[in-house]
Amino acid sequence: MPIHILAIGGSLRRSSYNRLLIEQARRQAPQDAIIEIADLSDVPLYNDDTEAQGFPAPVRRLAAQADRADAFLIATPEYNYSVPGVLKNAIDWLSRAHKAPFAGKPVAIASASASWLGGARAQYHLRQILVYLDARTLNKPELFISTAHEKFSASGELTDPVARQGLFSLLATLTAAARQAEATASDAQAA
Ligand SMILES: Cc1cc2nc3c(=O)[nH]c(=O)nc-3n(C[C@H](O)[C@H](O)[C@H](O)COP(=O)(O)O)c2cc1C
Repeated sequence: MPIHILAIGGSLRRSSYNRLLIEQARRQAPQDAIIEIADLSDVPLYNDDTEAQGFPAPVRRLAAQADRADAFLIATPEYNYSVPGVLKNAIDWLSRAHKAPFAGKPVAIASASASWLGGARAQYHLRQILVYLDARTLNKPELFISTAHEKFSASGELTDPVARQGLFSLLATLTAAARQAEATASDAQAA
């Protein structure tokens, strides 16, 4: 059975580098993995009153995708030294729609930015959020696509060889971690 990875991007921008990175991940996915891409464009801002009336359709769709996922890839820009509100909002909704959407599941983090640091500070904030959600966030490899404008071609291909290799390693590690989690769960069931 292939490993199902849900890729969540932290930017809604049409030509977002992080969106390009996710599309590249889909092209570079390991043979035994399938990457599905979450659409956050119509997820409303979290509001308890809205939740009380029932989860909006875009949230239900996202929650169903998260439920099906064996692992996650989150690619995000850095906004004001942290994660964009769009991403935090999606995570907040997910944490309400399902008791533990990330619990025990491997999560790989990547960031792309035109800056020199490549979104590092956002990654460390994201890691903190994922601690509370009990995700199995990969410590290594770390993938920061700095000066992103120099690393993608005009057609959106990640052309930088080091960045491509970094993405390849991240996806291979994520898929292996998901296989390991699967094996541990089936051992526990058999015991
Ligand atoms: C509101 C806002 C805040 C930002 N803050 C930071 C920041 O703190 N650090 C940084 O490196 N880049 C910052 N940026 C730049 C973005 O990270 C950069 O434009 C990135 O490419 C956006 O990601 P995207 O290409 O996926 O849309 C900020 C951009 C915006 C719009």
